[in-house]
Amino acid sequence: MPQKKSVYLETFGCQMNELDSELVTGQLESLGYEIVDRDTSADVVLYNTCSVREQAENKAWSRIGLVSQRKRDGEEIILGVLGCMAERDGHDLLRRHPEVDLMCGPGELDQLPMLLDNIARARALELQRQAPLEHRVALGGSRSRRWSTLQAAQDNLEMLDLSRAFHPDPSARAAGRSAYVRITRGCNKFCTYCVVPHTRGAEVHRPPADIVEECRILADQGVLEITLLGQTVNHYCYTHGTALSVAGKEVAQVGPGLNAFRKRELRRETATRTTSFADLLHLIHESVPSIQRLRFVTSYPRDFGDEVLQVIADSERICSYLHVPAQSGSNRILKLMNRGYSVEQYLDFIERACALIPDVSIAGDIIVGFPTETEEDFEATINLLRKVPFKNNFIFKYSERPGTVARGRFADDVPLATKKRRNNELLAVQAEVSAAVHQRWVGRETTVLVEQISKQEQTRTRKNSLAAQGGVTLTANGASLEQTQLSETPNSVPKQLSGRTSGDLIVFFDCPPKTSPETLIGTIQPISITRSSALNLYGTLNG
Ligand code: SAH
Ligand code: SF4
Ligand code: F3S
Repeated sequence: MPQKKSVYLETFGCQMNELDSELVTGQLESLGYEIVDRDTSADVVLYNTCSVREQAENKAWSRIGLVSQRKRDGEEIILGVLGCMAERDGHDLLRRHPEVDLMCGPGELDQLPMLLDNIARARALELQRQAPLEHRVALGGSRSRRWSTLQAAQDNLEMLDLSRAFHPDPSARAAGRSAYVRITRGCNKFCTYCVVPHTRGAEVHRPPADIVEECRILADQGVLEITLLGQTVNHYCYTHGTALSVAGKEVAQVGPGLNAFRKRELRRETATRTTSFADLLHLIHESVPSIQRLRFVTSYPRDFGDEVLQVIADSERICSYLHVPAQSGSNRILKLMNRGYSVEQYLDFIERACALIPDVSIAGDIIVGFPTETEEDFEATINLLRKVPFKNNFIFKYSERPGTVARGRFADDVPLATKKRRNNELLAVQAEVSAAVHQRWVGRETTVLVEQISKQEQTRTRKNSLAAQGGVTLTANGASLEQTQLSETPNSVPKQLSGRTSGDLIVFFDCPPKTSPETLIGTIQPISITRSSALNLYGTLNG
């Protein structure tokens, strides 16, 4: 590279994308690129995009539009679209925005440096417009497999995960002591509303040895908390001793599919030759004891055996936390969604989890306004929320996605106003349920991983510093605050910190006098809970 290029990368979507962005920036940094935090000062602007709902795509479209305009105005910027939108929209995206210089789906991110290099060289020769399309585009996932083998694609991605250049970032949440590790890629479940199997491709399981190795590398660099990532983590299952190994080393393999979980016979037969999700959790817990908190997302409500619950209950450092989306409380809708379980099976699972894991913390996702959802179906979802002690639920309005079965099969017939009303009603019910879950912790002791100076505190400090400089501050409703109201010096008020319990509950507490808040961030601390609200706990640091 003739000169050091600066790169701005913005991430939309899920934790998988956050991890991908971390791997991409690590890779680019190691090749001499400089990562900057403002798009206006970057030679290369990259958006790592999400397609799961239309709204997620719209956010990226508006960013792409702005940078495209800057390019039309003559600025020299390389504009790249990475992730699920690049995969889903393919060449259409390029047609809509010819200013986009490169696109790279999630299954081909290892090719990004090569694409950037192609563009830089084509530009140097002023040939960019004539540059062959394949020099600008590396789509991933399912489509690429038409011309490259699944195995080759997986091997390259595996290298990207394994070569991660992780440096704890003191300015990041929890001072960079919390990290993600992928255990599976893709998804084979094909819920009728969902684009993920189309954008991320077939479900592929990483070898346990690679996963443990990555956890060990992270632990050696000071990571205290690891979140294992997969679309349906409890379906993790790695079969050993297959022909698929390279120079004796095990490689990523396509998941066994639902049958392996349904056919008990098959499971027994292969029991000695497979690593199940329960085995994997146990293996990481025992092999990397300096990881103080091991958690995982997202769980699928079916085929979640007691073995996994038992491993969680028995392992001190595995968090008693399950993110296990129900999606709906109506059996009719669950069927149309192709979720493969009934409300009764979901409730049975929750009952087993609560019985086996003391203080288990449960989070979920719900979609309102799925095609044909009636008031009766919606009532059934409200009932489900009242039966399960969910600490929180992410509630989404159904968004019709191109390429999904639901779009081909059903009309998006629930009016937006109804979706909004149902969304708000569910949020209100969830607030009551969350308040009860949080209330149970009052008067008890627990531990938190201290994450940051609380947002409220950051605002207060900003206001104080503005006031100290003689500035005028605006309140939320736009009125200016009198400077005298802000005359308290920042040091006279204890700083408020926030952290998370192992069950992922947010806790606010004051930093003790004479302690610098920065020394607490990124550490695990004992705490007494003194009060609660619908969404948070409040406490005091012990000792
Ligand atoms: N693999 C996870 C979910 C991944 S997508 C699981 O199966 O639980 C994250 C969430 O987005 C889903 O749980 C679902 O609630 C929501 N979602 C996915 N597709 C959607 C769509 N078309 N409209 C609205 N919400 C959607
Ligand atoms: Fe989408 Fe269903 Fe796969 Fe989750 S399990 S990623 S909702 S298809
Ligand atoms: Fe979005 Fe792709 Fe994740 S569609 S939710 S970024 S897997």
